[in-house]
Amino acid sequence: MDRSAPSIRAALLGWYDAHARSLPWRVGPAERARGARADPYRVWLSEVMLQQTTVPHATGYFLDFTRRWPSVGELAAAPEAEVMAAWAGLGYYARARNLIACARAVALGRGGVFPDTEEGLLGLPGVGPYTAAAVAAIAFDRPSNVVDGNVERVISRLHAVKAPLPAAKPELKALAARLVTDERPGDWAQALMDLGAGVCRPKAPLCERCPVAFACAALAEGDPDAYPRRTARAERPRRHGAAFVLIHQGRVALERRPPRGLLGGMLGLPTTDWRAARPSPAEARAAAPAEADWRPLGPIEHVFTHFALTLEVWRAEAAAADPKLDWLPIEEAGQALPSVFLKALRAALETLI
Ligand code: ADE
Repeated sequence: MDRSAPSIRAALLGWYDAHARSLPWRVGPAERARGARADPYRVWLSEVMLQQTTVPHATGYFLDFTRRWPSVGELAAAPEAEVMAAWAGLGYYARARNLIACARAVALGRGGVFPDTEEGLLGLPGVGPYTAAAVAAIAFDRPSNVVDGNVERVISRLHAVKAPLPAAKPELKALAARLVTDERPGDWAQALMDLGAGVCRPKAPLCERCPVAFACAALAEGDPDAYPRRTARAERPRRHGAAFVLIHQGRVALERRPPRGLLGGMLGLPTTDWRAARPSPAEARAAAPAEADWRPLGPIEHVFTHFALTLEVWRAEAAAADPKLDWLPIEEAGQALPSVFLKALRAALETLI
């Protein structure tokens, strides 16, 4: 069996020609072969969104963003609060702030033109090594080595890499680099991504459909699911707090969160601080945003990257709309809130009191 890099490349690119997913930011292999190129703005935007979520979840956001802001100049000129609200639900809100900073740097500093090399892209705000490599390959056909979690999985199986993640990252990156050439680098990066997403899945990979099964060391061993190996993760610490849903005439009281830190710059429900110890009912009431007939409704759970959160949800009707708070119609709040607050708001509206 020929397990050389050229034969693996030929097999995967041939598979991609026949099976590439049709995605709204993608120029497919046939159009690309005819000379079409992807819009760097759309490639950059999709890559930033896809770093934190799956293609099905990101697609709606991508379509909404590009309808509202079809070019980097339009995104640069958008009010920050509108962009943050449109991002709500994607998570990792520091990325949304960087997204705006990057759009402004490209629009104002570079006449709306993205740099066309990995090094140039790395100089933009919020653009890290992965995004720079992905945009350089997909938008500019540069032979960069694009390695995300999907690609790490594919490579770890192809070579049955015994070292566990995350320590194995440099080894996986070096092995992935051996497969990159000047020929069709954009298609190559996307072929690996599509293989990782649809065939070389984390659980129950579809090896019978895999174009590179002939070269897969993990399959030859008989248990591709066992790769990539991972060092056991430490359990996430848990924090506790209370969140307050204060309603007045179909509006809910919200606060703009401080610009830096977790969920920075986003709208949120008023809450206590989030601490290791659960607040007592008296502590929670003392932190409430107004005097009112507060009722506890039970907890909601949310998992952030570095900790898990239990929020006790409290609800009350306000006698008047205190102007120190932002009062948003419930249906608008539903569009603008990060997921953790949306869960709390839903819980409050679904519970009859
Ligand atoms: N995941 C990350 N980037 C992607 C892309 N450009 N296409 C498909 N899946 C992806």
